Amino acid sequence: MTEPDLATELRHEFAEQLAAEGKLPAQWRDAVEAVPRHECTPAFYVPNDAPGITTYVPITPKLVGDEAWLRRVYSDETLITQFDGRDIDWSDPQPISGASPTSSSTLPSLVVQMLDALDGDDESTVTEYGTGTGYSTALMCHHFGPEKITSVETDSGVADRARAALDRCGYAPRLITGNGLAGADRTEPADRTIATMGVRGIPWAWVRETAPGGLVVATLRGWLRSLGLVRLVVEDGQHATGQFIAAEPGFMMARQQEAPTNLGMLPADDDGKTRETAHGPGVLRMPDSGFVAQLAMPNARTFDMAGDDGRMRTFVLDAANESFAVLSEDGDGWSVREGGPVSLWGEVEQSLALWYAAGAPATTEFGVSVEPDRQLIWLENAAEGPSWRLPIAPGS
Ligand SMILES: C[S@@+](CC[C@H](N)C(=O)[O-])C[C@H]1O[C@@H](n2cnc3c(N)ncnc32)[C@H](O)[C@@H]1O
Repeated sequence: MTEPDLATELRHEFAEQLAAEGKLPAQWRDAVEAVPRHECTPAFYVPNDAPGITTYVPITPKLVGDEAWLRRVYSDETLITQFDGRDIDWSDPQPISGASPTSSSTLPSLVVQMLDALDGDDESTVTEYGTGTGYSTALMCHHFGPEKITSVETDSGVADRARAALDRCGYAPRLITGNGLAGADRTEPADRTIATMGVRGIPWAWVRETAPGGLVVATLRGWLRSLGLVRLVVEDGQHATGQFIAAEPGFMMARQQEAPTNLGMLPADDDGKTRETAHGPGVLRMPDSGFVAQLAMPNARTFDMAGDDGRMRTFVLDAANESFAVLSEDGDGWSVREGGPVSLWGEVEQSLALWYAAGAPATTEFGVSVEPDRQLIWLENAAEGPSWRLPIAPGS
């Protein structure tokens, strides 16, 4: 069997398997059957399964053979194509550890879930932010028609490779290389807007460039964790509202919004005031309470470090308001040492109390309101329920 035939066969099997697992919405099946993902992912990395530090291993036809490469391509896996914003030397690819993925072909089942959430029709025009390998762009070109699609990628090397891949797939959508947080420079607003990179707040340009009644599907995330997938209806030129439709996924952050590498000044051992707290650092790690903690401290970062006595402490730092909280085990409970103008852990305690009082609702119970100068995540209703402000993206 020739390689293209094998690719076609594997693609059909893959679509069949996704559909059988309930992960392929019927209206996207044609696109998954038609788009040659292997043209978008000629070489990539996947994480190995060994315990310990994650190591990513390269997969190319030369390294593993055509069939093994194609089997990886036509599987429900995220295929990583760039780390730390640096292009990979594919002439001699080596395993990589201690690096952060900065471009990939997203998990196909997630891509089709997001495309389905767009709820488009034959007439829909779409702006996509985060072209990446071009795979999701190609699915949309097949489904809506390439002339309806605009896609924006910030990294010029990634954008060039996506353009070539889309060309090999036979599609010529409008491709822009630039910072998508500033929009797509559209003359007419799109009916639908989708983003496959995480943002700290919805860039206002995305709302401005989406037609009234149109939808924005994107993932919000903070520096502590991902918040989840949101779908917003653009009501008019002044606001968009909607809700979280899934607690996951965790997309890579928009390049321009990545956390600063420098954490700022660490508090000295005798800085701040110590008190008891009912909540230990576990609340940061649990899915739902972690979501609430992220809302309570939108600019915070956290890490664990042993003190001089060898006991672990969890540091929470907010360079924006120069405040800190250090959590330590205290007998059977926890104590917190806080300093700076804002009681960071106090914000978490207060937000958790509001959340518990509302019955500890899941992420998908939270609403989202976006206005030009204010973005809120809320419970119950936007005007009177508990609400949290999102940091608004600079330049939007
Ligand atoms: C998860 S990948 C995209 C996956 C892609 N949709 C696919 O199917 O292959 C996220 C992409 O967003 C891009 N990106 C990050 N920040 C961006 C920005 N401000 N504007 C446009 N693209 C951005 C990254 O360079 C990366 O290629």
